[in-house]
Amino acid sequence: ASTLGAAAAQSGRYFGAAVAAGHLGESAYVTTWDREFNGVTAENEMKWGPIEPSRGSFNWGPADQIVNHAVSKGMKIRGHTLVWHAQLPGWVNGNMSAADLRSAMTNHINQVMGHYKGKIYAWDVVNEAFADGGAVGSLRSSVFTQKLGNGFIEEAFRAARAADPDVKLCYNDYNIDDANAAKTRGVYNMVRDFKARGVPIDCVGLQSHFGNPPSNYQQNIAQFAALGVDVQITELDVGGSGSAQADAYRRVTQACMAVSRCTGITVWGVTDKYSWRSGDTPLLFDGNYNKKPAYDAVLNAL
Ligand code: XIL
Repeated sequence: ASTLGAAAAQSGRYFGAAVAAGHLGESAYVTTWDREFNGVTAENEMKWGPIEPSRGSFNWGPADQIVNHAVSKGMKIRGHTLVWHAQLPGWVNGNMSAADLRSAMTNHINQVMGHYKGKIYAWDVVNEAFADGGAVGSLRSSVFTQKLGNGFIEEAFRAARAADPDVKLCYNDYNIDDANAAKTRGVYNMVRDFKARGVPIDCVGLQSHFGNPPSNYQQNIAQFAALGVDVQITELDVGGSGSAQADAYRRVTQACMAVSRCTGITVWGVTDKYSWRSGDTPLLFDGNYNKKPAYDAVLNAL
């Protein structure tokens, strides 16, 4: 196959990119997205702040633009993200009572999942809930832990399943790529516990914002898959350039291909010029939409 999406499709996988609605007027951007990718994640447009800027009133337009385009091209769409401590609207704050926050969260999940029902492949129900340091299993402090306690993750997944029984429900995080890291162990234990108790969870998203992927990355994907969940690489980008960057991309792609439950890869942007990692060149196409060595490495590994 001669494109990333077609190559990934040969093994039943998808290869997606994060896309921003603000760039859809740029023809090279859309042409590259359409030609190379058969998956998409809205880079910001489905986050709580952008999509529900005031309580109960939804700004669907920018996310709909991305979704409608993707649906017309038959792409797999990842919904990102329902419950996250960042990019929240101002009205979700510490002044809310627990009951009020709970009902706001449930309503948000119901409305957003309902709006996109039938169009989304997998939802990042909860994003980045685990802490970076500290004991295995420690959560990051947020309005959710403070008001609802650590059970907010389970509550969100149960609400999501009730809102849409047919879509895959994922937990998504960064720095859970090393099989043995404390943060990884914490997420692993949560997924195992959810599976044991019947809390709905279908997939784990490894964001994979890399300098260098850990040497046990494939083993890590396999250990999550062995719990009975799919794994997706959800926000891949790799700092640097040239052959070192290409090698890292190759290893990541090979790791996913080696695990049957690794169902797809999404890179966090189409072109270096719009990467969120400003000053870096972490993507597969340069600022002029030329294929980089990393592109060839991925294509050959798919
Ligand atoms: C980033 C976007 O790329 C930026 O445009 C935005 O300013 C901040 O968020 N983890 C995530 C993504 O789950 O949603 C983040 O996206 C990058 C880190």
